[in-house]
Amino acid sequence: MNLIIFGPPGAGKGTQSNNLINNFDLKQVSTGNLLRSEIKIQTDLGKKIESIINNGELVSDDVVNTLIRKIISDPKNFNRLIFDGYPRTISQVYSLEKLLKEFNQKISIVFNLNVDKDIVSKRVNGRVICTRCFRIFNVYLNPPNSKNHKCEKKYLEKRTDDNSKTILNRYGTYVAKTKPILDYYSKKGLLLEIDGNQKIAEIYGKIKGILENIRDWHYVYFLYKFPLKNLTSLIYGPYSRYQYPSK
Ligand code: AP5
Ligand code: MG
Repeated sequence: MNLIIFGPPGAGKGTQSNNLINNFDLKQVSTGNLLRSEIKIQTDLGKKIESIINNGELVSDDVVNTLIRKIISDPKNFNRLIFDGYPRTISQVYSLEKLLKEFNQKISIVFNLNVDKDIVSKRVNGRVICTRCFRIFNVYLNPPNSKNHKCEKKYLEKRTDDNSKTILNRYGTYVAKTKPILDYYSKKGLLLEIDGNQKIAEIYGKIKGILENIRDWHYVYFLYKFPLKNLTSLIYGPYSRYQYPSK
């Protein structure tokens, strides 16, 4: 199943995606991370987009859609993607639809993490990320310690766009260009609102429960679609005598 984790900057999209990939066979696709790695290794693209990101504006749809195409077209990623921070404009929504259709996939659910603006600011200002294991922490709310983080402290970094000025721009961009696309997913019946102001574990528990239900329903559908022969094989094993009766 493919899903989208949606929400303003600092909503917890990356945090929840990290938890999900540890428990489900899913791959996180964070366009923010992909773009930051282009900046880190100073590719031509990285040099072009650095100031855009540091100003809290959006990188062009073409650039982002090209990165996404590479991921969706890879058979290893078939139907197991968590989109974190993508799509962010209506043009990205249409591009994603088109790409998923081309590769015979769809979005099963969109989780919208609703978080108040003042909470977002505190979360973003306190964020530190480990550049080695990619875990996300918060010096005020979720500090790294010897129990939750095994890498050396020197790997912990702040993001260059995590400052009070940029966060206001990022939030403004979110409200103006990104939030409106929720309407699209709501009309499609795919949108699920989650209170993102709660504790990390509480939010995760809700998302996990919902995904487990979807997974069970997919399983039931699979059983329904397949003939009895395969059903017995699933229950008793592929070479069971129930599948191949002696007479
Ligand atoms: P991106 O990296 O996607 O940034 P963002 O959308 O602004 O979201 P963040 O990563 O800041 O927040 P998050 O929701 O992941 O929160 P996190 O889990 O880290 O994009 C960066 C930039 O790249 C954009 O501004 C744009 O320029 C460009 N870009 C990216 N995608 C693009 C696209 N599709 N099109 C065009 N341009 C694009 O948590 C935040 C903090 O809060 C952490 O410290 C965490 O520990 C803490 N925390 C999380 N949840 C909780 C909780 N429940 N309680 C307490 N603390 C919590
Ligand atoms: Mg993030």
